[in-house]
Amino acid sequence: MFDHQDIFAALNGKLPLPEKIECVHGLLKDRFSFVDRIAVAIYEGKTDLLRTFVHSGEDTPLSLYSAKFSNSASLQEILKVGRPRVINDLDVFGNAPATHTRSIAAHQYKSSYTMPMHLNGDFFGFLFFNSFQKNVFDESALHYLDVIGHLLSLLVIHEMSSTRSLVASVKTATSMAHQRDFETGSHLDRMSNYARLIASEVANKYSLDDELVEYIFLFSPLHDIGKIGIPDSILLKPGKLTEEEFETMKAHTLKGGEIIDTMLSNLGLDDLPHAGILRNIALHHHEAVNGSGYHGLTEEEIPIEAKIVAVADVFDALTSSRPYKEAWSNDRAFEMLQSMAGSKFDSDCVAALIKRREEVEAIQRQFNEDRLG
Ligand code: C2E
Ligand code: SIN
Ligand code: SIN
Ligand code: FE
Ligand code: FE
Repeated sequence: MFDHQDIFAALNGKLPLPEKIECVHGLLKDRFSFVDRIAVAIYEGKTDLLRTFVHSGEDTPLSLYSAKFSNSASLQEILKVGRPRVINDLDVFGNAPATHTRSIAAHQYKSSYTMPMHLNGDFFGFLFFNSFQKNVFDESALHYLDVIGHLLSLLVIHEMSSTRSLVASVKTATSMAHQRDFETGSHLDRMSNYARLIASEVANKYSLDDELVEYIFLFSPLHDIGKIGIPDSILLKPGKLTEEEFETMKAHTLKGGEIIDTMLSNLGLDDLPHAGILRNIALHHHEAVNGSGYHGLTEEEIPIEAKIVAVADVFDALTSSRPYKEAWSNDRAFEMLQSMAGSKFDSDCVAALIKRREEVEAIQRQFNEDRLG
């Protein structure tokens, strides 16, 4: 028998979301031992992508995976009919066209129960329960799974909405402090999407899971938040900065760290899991692996999220026009990153961006309004 107190104490505590989900999975298995995997995929309306987010269970057929929602007829059907879906024999999907479906079946999962998740009426993702056995999701199991499913959705919503309210507050503060045009809008969309590309490419080497990749994506647009504190006369100077002006400019990383700490504490989010990722991005996106960056951190001292954002940010800065420079071509920007890989930039992160060039260019096409203008 499980101890209810332990379970609920764990859910109320500061555990990271994947551990909370493991915990609910353990509770569920006491009653329905056939549930071998729980997985959450999050929907992003802006890009129509459904992304793997967190999962529990030993086997992970799908992680760091995303797919166009509009390409998944059967998942769309679930939304259309507005009810969860039971598949009691996944063998019928053995030849399915969708990679994710084949992958689930190929990992010997025999049945699945899929629930849509909603917040205030808006669809925001799916919850998957999978089993290695056929025909296990019967009426009595489903009744209980619906309750557990709602608990799981709430855990996911709680975590996502704390993060989103933080990002939204910081963005609001930024625009109220009339952050300058070139730092808003598409620069931030592009650089955060580049950061996500790089993060997913280096994920295996640095043990980043889907959730961490998502946080890097969500937090990277806040890297230059500290520029709020830099005078326009420096920030918008149409020419090269003097040494003294550049020293002033360099304070933007520390100011960013302070702003983030203040926001976290004002919002009562000091305990937000992964707030450290945000802080590291703001503080350390100008470090260099050879120690010549703003705060002199070296190779192993620089957090991976900061190394990723450094490459994403500089690539976009180079390929965009700034008050002080013209936009460079992608070839020229890649060459410059390559030439500084291992000295200024992390080599893996540079290689990752270059390897995913096609997707980089797709991101540029999608968010192009101020790139050359
Ligand atoms: P930013 O414009 O967002 O640029 C971020 C980083 O991209 C820069 O960090 C630098 O590493 C790289 N970068 C951008 N443009 C160029 C370029 O033309 N050539 C090269 N080699 N690298 C480039 P950095 O240098 O630490 O600068 C931080 C911030 O300081 C910049 O953010 C920008 O806001 C400001 N800044 C830097 N140099 C100048 C300048 O000459 N004039 C003005 N007005 N601002 C500057
Ligand atoms: C599909 O992706 O179209 C079908 C498979 C599924 O929803 O599991
Ligand atoms: C998943 O289980 O993570 C997605 C695959 C599916 O069942 O459609
Ligand atoms: Fe910066
Ligand atoms: Fe930037």
